[in-house]
Amino acid sequence: MTARIIDGKALAAVVREEVAEGVAALVAGGVPAPELAVILIGEDPASRVYVSNKVRQTEAVGMRSRRYLLGSDATERSLLELIEELNRDLAVNGILVQFPLPPHMDIARVVTAIRPDKDVDGFNPLNVGRIAAGMEGALVPCTPLGVMRLIKSVHQDIAGLGALVVGASNVVGRPMARLLLQELCTVSIAHIRTTDLERRCREADILVVATGVPGLIRGRFVKPGATVIDVGITRVASASGVDKLVGDVAFDEALEVAGAITPVPGGVGPMTIACLLANTLSAARMEAARRKAVEAETAV
Ligand code: GUN
Repeated sequence: MTARIIDGKALAAVVREEVAEGVAALVAGGVPAPELAVILIGEDPASRVYVSNKVRQTEAVGMRSRRYLLGSDATERSLLELIEELNRDLAVNGILVQFPLPPHMDIARVVTAIRPDKDVDGFNPLNVGRIAAGMEGALVPCTPLGVMRLIKSVHQDIAGLGALVVGASNVVGRPMARLLLQELCTVSIAHIRTTDLERRCREADILVVATGVPGLIRGRFVKPGATVIDVGITRVASASGVDKLVGDVAFDEALEVAGAITPVPGGVGPMTIACLLANTLSAARMEAARRKAVEAETAV
């Protein structure tokens, strides 16, 4: 059996189109175009590329963007002050601080400082808690949100399916598991100390892998017909001398066993930024609804 290859690039284009239509509808209703503020600390070349892509794609769907570039020696206090200023700025709907942070900054303090209703990364503890409790109104981390869309492009209903998430990070693994649970999958999380990974993977109808270990998941780990989502993306030198991007799944092997599989690149990656745009639109819609409610109250 050769698996269906899930086209993340095409699905991301659909999401961007939906966002562009949503933005146009907001603006037609008299609401300013949503605005995303992106903060980058330091000179990490990969982060610079990600931030440029985020800004470019934000503007392409009709939203506004701001970019703040802080030196790698910027203090945590100066970052927190900037976040506070953006929290108060009525024109800003979304705030994103690009990771990784320099080692002298505390991730927990930074994500907690971002107003939950502008937290388009979904990392503020209030949003984390809302997702964990299955509450409405959460902004959901972009990569897991994109993965759910990819899974739903294959399955109409995933209730009752067995799902294994390999990797327990706060950015992907943990929120991913909570979203799958919300859809009534039977969910497990594997991590660095998990024993017998191969057997556990082989039991999963849905296998989501986010470890950053290239080729960790071999074809024999995959349950026949399973849906395999590869979040990993690692740059490796190839024999030709040109670097290539590889995932956590041995793609050619898994392709022969899985029912559906995401490629790397062109799978999860394009969906992450598309979902950031969707989150920024969601934040702007929620803000517009709040303002409308306040206006209606004060008009009485
Ligand atoms: N760096 C890598 N992935 C992410 C992400 O999803 N959000 C942020 N803010 N930084 C990242």
